[in-house]
Amino acid sequence: MKFDIITIFPNIIEEYINSGIVRIAQEKGFVEINIHDLRKWTDDIHKTVDDTPYGGGPGMVMKIEPIYKALKELKTADSIVCITTPKGEELKQSKVKELSKNKDAHYIVICGRYEGVDQRVHDNLVDYEFSIGEYILSGGELAALVLVDSVTRLLPGVLGNKKSLESESFDNEDELDFPQYTKPEEFNGWKVPEVLLSGHHKNIEDWREEQRV
Ligand SMILES: C[S@@+](CC[C@H](N)C(=O)[O-])C[C@H]1O[C@@H](n2cnc3c(N)ncnc32)[C@H](O)[C@@H]1O
Repeated sequence: MKFDIITIFPNIIEEYINSGIVRIAQEKGFVEINIHDLRKWTDDIHKTVDDTPYGGGPGMVMKIEPIYKALKELKTADSIVCITTPKGEELKQSKVKELSKNKDAHYIVICGRYEGVDQRVHDNLVDYEFSIGEYILSGGELAALVLVDSVTRLLPGVLGNKKSLESESFDNEDELDFPQYTKPEEFNGWKVPEVLLSGHHKNIEDWREEQRV
């Protein structure tokens, strides 16, 4: 799988993808993640990526030209162009699963900033508009990382223990993961549920099943 992330803040993306599971997934060759500074596709001295909105109003809008040029260079026939926007479809685990199914997929993710991106990008250049929830972030970088992380960890082989995926929250509709505890058995008077210490596998399984609903 390949991700190309287009952003004006490459450093935000860099730090995250070079940590934890996403870093390991790249090292093991399950995923390739490239970060692109949108300003690379500008041709003025100030490397301008935004301008004032037609019709007036506060703030700035991301221009179409640099994004168009970026896509011209990065896109192939099979690429899926994604854009972060609070107006998009809210990302759910079911969609994450769907996106992780094709291990050869190529996702290009455009991170918005300012008041948003020229609507002509959304209307003509994008396949999938997604939101990570009903709140407004300053930019699309966090949303892009949510997509990359949640999809990458589902790629076969990325998580050492396949079982960790089986009981995860949202794996089945209306079910969450069961509560987890580790040592010590008691802390501050707060005890680990007795059943988990019993060694009785069937009872433990039943208790966990109950807790998941
Ligand atoms: C300040 S926001 C623009 C919000 C826009 N004016 C609106 O009210 O719909 C700047 C950028 O952050 C990203 N963004 C903000 N909130 C987001 C969310 N909940 N999900 C995904 N992307 C988001 C988008 O790329 C957006 O273009």
